[in-house]
Amino acid sequence: MTFSRILGTGGYLPERVMTNADLEAIVDTTSAWIRERTGIEKRHLASEGESCCDLAEAAARRALEAAGIGPDDLDLILVATTTPDQFFPSTACLLQQRLGNRGAPAFDLQAVCAGFVYALSVADQFIRTGAARRALVVGAETISRLLDWNDRTTCVLFGDGAGAVVLGASDEPGIVSTHIHADGAYKDLLQVPGGHGNGRPEARFLEMRGNEVFRFAVNTLGRIVDETLDANGLSTADIDWLIPHQANIRIIQATARKLDLPMDRVVVTVAQHGNTSSASIPLAFDEAVRDGRIRRGETLLMEAFGGGFTWGSALIRY
Ligand code: ACO
Repeated sequence: MTFSRILGTGGYLPERVMTNADLEAIVDTTSAWIRERTGIEKRHLASEGESCCDLAEAAARRALEAAGIGPDDLDLILVATTTPDQFFPSTACLLQQRLGNRGAPAFDLQAVCAGFVYALSVADQFIRTGAARRALVVGAETISRLLDWNDRTTCVLFGDGAGAVVLGASDEPGIVSTHIHADGAYKDLLQVPGGHGNGRPEARFLEMRGNEVFRFAVNTLGRIVDETLDANGLSTADIDWLIPHQANIRIIQATARKLDLPMDRVVVTVAQHGNTSSASIPLAFDEAVRDGRIRRGETLLMEAFGGGFTWGSALIRY
């Protein structure tokens, strides 16, 4: 059997930083409210002229370097993003051109904050079936451009960034299992309503019913964690690291409690990055790999929840 294995990770955050104190000057909020209700202290924002593809490229190059392979070795390029630079070509094709790869299939995948886990699942299927041997999977977002900077209930929550992994075919897992789900019945709770097809092109900012999203996220993430452990006959004691989507420290703590996992086994970046949507898991993963917390052979559980609703998980033997 063929499995996919993580060969390398990379991450990139734009240089521009916005602290909670900076936000006090923009909307009616306080540093303390943001910190206490979300755990966020600062976020990075793309500068004017800095594109989603710029962020994706920087993260991808670092992941390729860590994997020790070049762009020509890739036979699949996936970008999970909610904020593509253009309607088309896809950000994946723009990235492919930057990297100088020619001929590999390249496409975007849109599952909002669950996008990276979705893309990892798709790439894993390509590798397991033999359709690809080396895949680049990127989560990249300039989500700040979807924010209404007059709306204190949303603009304080998000940041920009990109994270990437390179996967390679292997005789042993690697990616042990992935689990992805969606329920479009909840489409109105978290959305950017505007689009060319619905007569509301002006409605281009993120809208969220935060309380309802919060409750649904906590319950759903608890369930996806159970589903993942059950599918593999594992218990929480088998998990070395939880790498959650970074939306709100209180959601992360609730999932860790459910797993009975101490917080020092949870990779937390939300304080420094805010919610970077599909970039948040690969950014957190890369940080913990590079600072030596996550080591080869350890068992990782990734879980994410986002607009759609979409949600998913990945169990990985690193
Ligand atoms: N500063 C100060 N006060 C604020 C702010 C702010 N930035 N935002 C809201 N408030 C006020 C509200 O107006 C409200 O005031 P009121 O009581 O006078 O009406 C009060 O604070 C409490 O508001 P709540 O919405 O009840 O606050 P809550 O504790 O629920 O926190 C939050 C809100 C942080 C948005 C939380 O609900 C949350 O994290 N939700 C989930 C977000 C999420 O996980 N998103 C998922 C993925 S995102 C994606 O897919 C793109």
